[in-house]
Amino acid sequence: MRLIKLLCFFVVFQVSAQQGGMWIPSLLEGMNEDEMQNLGSKLTAKDIYDVNNSSLKDAIGHFNGGCTSEVISDKGLVLTNHHCGFSQIQSHSSLENDYIKNGFWAMSLEEELPNEGLFIEFIVSIHDVTDTVLNGVNDTMTEKEKQSLITRNSNAAMASWSKENWQDVKTKSFYEGNQYFLFVTERFEDIRLVGAPPSSIGKFGSDTDNWVFPRHTGDFSMFRIYADKNNRPAKYSKDNVPYKPKHYLPVSLDGVEEGDFTMVFGFPGRTNEYLPAVAIEHITKEYNPTNIEIREAALKVIDANMKASDEVRIKYASKQARIANAWKKWIGENLGIEKSDAVAKRREFETTFKKALKENGLEAKYGHILPEFDKLYKEFGPINIKRRNFVEVFLVTSELMQMTFRAYQVEQALLANPESLERAKASLKGSFEGILKNFDANVDKGVYLNVMPLYGKPVDASIYDKTAFTDLDSALKLLEGDAETVIKNLNDDAAYAYAKPIIDEFFNTIDAEFQQKNEVISALQTEYMTALMKALPNERYFPDANSTLRVTYGQVRGYSPRDAVYYNPVTYLEGVVEKYVPGDYEFDVPQKLLDLYNTKDYGPYADKNGKVPVCFLGTNHTTGGNSGSPAIDAEGNLVGLNFDRVWEGTMSDMNYDPEICRNIMVDLRYVLFIVDKYAGAKHLIDEMTLVHPKKASGKKNKKKKKAKK
Ligand code: ARG
Ligand code: ASP
Repeated sequence: MRLIKLLCFFVVFQVSAQQGGMWIPSLLEGMNEDEMQNLGSKLTAKDIYDVNNSSLKDAIGHFNGGCTSEVISDKGLVLTNHHCGFSQIQSHSSLENDYIKNGFWAMSLEEELPNEGLFIEFIVSIHDVTDTVLNGVNDTMTEKEKQSLITRNSNAAMASWSKENWQDVKTKSFYEGNQYFLFVTERFEDIRLVGAPPSSIGKFGSDTDNWVFPRHTGDFSMFRIYADKNNRPAKYSKDNVPYKPKHYLPVSLDGVEEGDFTMVFGFPGRTNEYLPAVAIEHITKEYNPTNIEIREAALKVIDANMKASDEVRIKYASKQARIANAWKKWIGENLGIEKSDAVAKRREFETTFKKALKENGLEAKYGHILPEFDKLYKEFGPINIKRRNFVEVFLVTSELMQMTFRAYQVEQALLANPESLERAKASLKGSFEGILKNFDANVDKGVYLNVMPLYGKPVDASIYDKTAFTDLDSALKLLEGDAETVIKNLNDDAAYAYAKPIIDEFFNTIDAEFQQKNEVISALQTEYMTALMKALPNERYFPDANSTLRVTYGQVRGYSPRDAVYYNPVTYLEGVVEKYVPGDYEFDVPQKLLDLYNTKDYGPYADKNGKVPVCFLGTNHTTGGNSGSPAIDAEGNLVGLNFDRVWEGTMSDMNYDPEICRNIMVDLRYVLFIVDKYAGAKHLIDEMTLVHPKKASGKKNKKKKKAKK
């Protein structure tokens, strides 16, 4: 009995001690490799990232700059989330061909649908260029001088880097500007839609279930990368052929169970793990609540209209999902920060930091940082809120306001440079077309009337009757003529005339003040990061997410969201049926799926208890951008598809806590089951390499079972 207790304690301790963090794939040797192997991984650092041989990283693609995707066949078949491919699925949909509602499956290569503008980018290699980029930077320089030297150095590094002519390079800052890496990349631009389940599977549970567990969403879609005949990136062409990847992920039919190792490999977007307590307090107590309120006001109108009309539902589907997603996330983030007492804990940590500064003789150099943060956030808080509220009203919720904003930018460009007329017209035309394609003036007017008062400005509903912006033909007429005429046309428009002084105020006062204060805080944050690493060198530091390729790892684990409640880490098809509400817009289930369930027609996709797993939880530290990332087992096989986190755990963007932060993945067996049994697209399964790592080998025979190279 005592032994068991001790063991449990040890296990829990290990879990907390060795998880969290988004690590740079080229630097895993040593600590990360050890930690991963302690958690059960059989992979070496080189299996994951290797420049000279193919490795797991060659299968991981940045999907359109915002999500992650992975290659799962030698014909460039790619898996990502349903919500990542959603705007592509939507763009091919109409009332007649409603792929959002009914799903879409290409039964041959010819039926795959091209997507203009969509791209997938792979990482060829990663290089530390810190010395080059920081060359000549010193403490006597102003922040502006530092930044401009850094930009010059990094541009020079990129310009002189040797690469193939179809490749690109970029540099990125890590650890708040304490380290710099250069990436050589390959970007593929002919990406075709292969398949998507109906929303009643791919978005099952919709907003009610978004960000929560237990979860039963089959959040996946499939695309295919096409390359030119030399297997190189190319623009869309009928003559392009399926891409032959350097590596693709074998798919495991054995899944994972509680305690098993998992690793999530992808492109996390943005985290802020090293904020001072005062910043966390500002974000959760002041900043988030105002933005939540604005989105709530917009969603009230959009939701009601989507329920009332199918046409509005299709037009607003993507927009609504985007607005609702962050809205609900912020609510969860606030809950998590409060529940875990994160602010108080961060203050405690700051006491430790201050003590360490003293002990290491660093107080004179860095002792000013924390008091300065307290002072700066007091001044920065109000302007940060005001600026973001503007963004929420003008760029997120009200689309007429967004059009006036784009028009304003074009007017400014024309005033500065009348020569830019054609470019300016084209860009504004693009904005008008993009917005009006999925626009309903009545819905937008309702949104505007609800959100603008929250930005503290009087509303004028009559602008919707008078403006030319809300109809594409009349909007494009405004763009006819020379620069002077275009400027006059815009200024004569009622909506533009209404919005212009508000946008003027934004640029001249609000944004200007924000930029100036933000620069000072960023510089202090950089200094804080340096000081942390010097004062407490044995802490476990990982760089904040910055949309670059990262490895995060953990184990399959349930969690306890509240007193006396424990969530098992795996959900099953049974749960889909439990949640089924016939005809409901969130919880309807396709008849065919119910039939498969009733006849238990599961093929080889059930687990050893004869049930089809749907989703599972892990302790992998993920964030926005990790959607679509593969969950990889101890041997390099694909077992899951990351798509979300649990609600209280969304605070992991500021405060990863292994007790309650969990990522949510679709079990790959559910994906295969839907593709094969539901959609009848067996030809896609046949392209993949299916493996049984647990059955065939046991634990010893790992070498043979390693990821196919
Ligand atoms: N919460 C997940 C992420 O941030 C999934 C979002 C898509 N689903 C939705 N109902 N909006 O992106
Ligand atoms: N759903 C998110 C995404 O789209 C992932 C997350 O925030 O956990 O990237």
